[in-house]
Amino acid sequence: MTEVKKHFAVIGNPIHHSLSPQIHTMFAKDAGLLMDYKAVLSPLNEFQQTSQTLISEKLSGANVTLPFKKEAYQLANQHSQHAKIAEAVNTLEFKDKEIIGHNTDGIGLVRDLEQNLQIDLKHKKVLLIGAGGAAEGVLYSILEKKPLELTLTNRTIEKSNTIKNKMNAYAKHLNVDLNVIEIKKLQHQYFDVIINATSASLNEADLGLDNKIFHEKCLAYDMMYGKETLFIKQAKSQHAQTSDGLGMLVEQAAEAFYIWHHIKPQTKPIIDFFRNK
Ligand code: ATR
Repeated sequence: MTEVKKHFAVIGNPIHHSLSPQIHTMFAKDAGLLMDYKAVLSPLNEFQQTSQTLISEKLSGANVTLPFKKEAYQLANQHSQHAKIAEAVNTLEFKDKEIIGHNTDGIGLVRDLEQNLQIDLKHKKVLLIGAGGAAEGVLYSILEKKPLELTLTNRTIEKSNTIKNKMNAYAKHLNVDLNVIEIKKLQHQYFDVIINATSASLNEADLGLDNKIFHEKCLAYDMMYGKETLFIKQAKSQHAQTSDGLGMLVEQAAEAFYIWHHIKPQTKPIIDFFRNK
């Protein structure tokens, strides 16, 4: 039987910077799969139409990136548990009349931390900075790993409180202490892992973190990748371990690939490839 070529895409605005087409093409080549994967720029107010056009072109699935993850959640008529909790979708499966929405960002982050960086989150003290879509998208996956405590902070602290109220029942169920602390009050608390999920780095903005929260044994993780952020520079100046979000990007893609093709791709060679580029 001849293999049917399947079609995939990533939808965003902007989209030219996206590494997803390259990552998925490399995964497919490794797996010996016939597929193509293109980058699609959607006008800001036309995500629905863009998606419907792709569905009519018989796409099997799509990744969704900024700023459309909430709209992708609305578009889907079925949702995975992670997508439901985050109310955001980064991976769509198109099956006949069904549009299934998944969110693989949290799984991507946790896999990068645990498998690539060898950080077992269980019983650890974790600080998550940010209360936008990026933070919300990964929060449940962090809770699932049962850290001892998860502290939320954000420039606009009310947003951290809103997320805490939404997620507290899950945290209690998983036995995780979920706290909110204002950024400027973070000084003497001990954290094993500090995750920057803000977009402050895009504007080279300083988060206003006290140097004292970083130490040699903590990992400072920035979900951004591509260039060294102020957050990473500050963490390094205090001798903390550091990582950017490249591994998370490749791991979230690997989970999407698994959802579409039921094949778990090798991620380390791809991370190394982009790291050494
Ligand atoms: P994303 O989907 O990338 O999370 P978002 O929903 O707009 O985008 O959220 C951006 C996050 O980065 C928010 O936590 C935002 O803080 P506010 O809630 O106070 O807006 C944070 N952020 C953006 N620019 C920042 C800056 N210059 N300093 C501190 N935090 C910033």
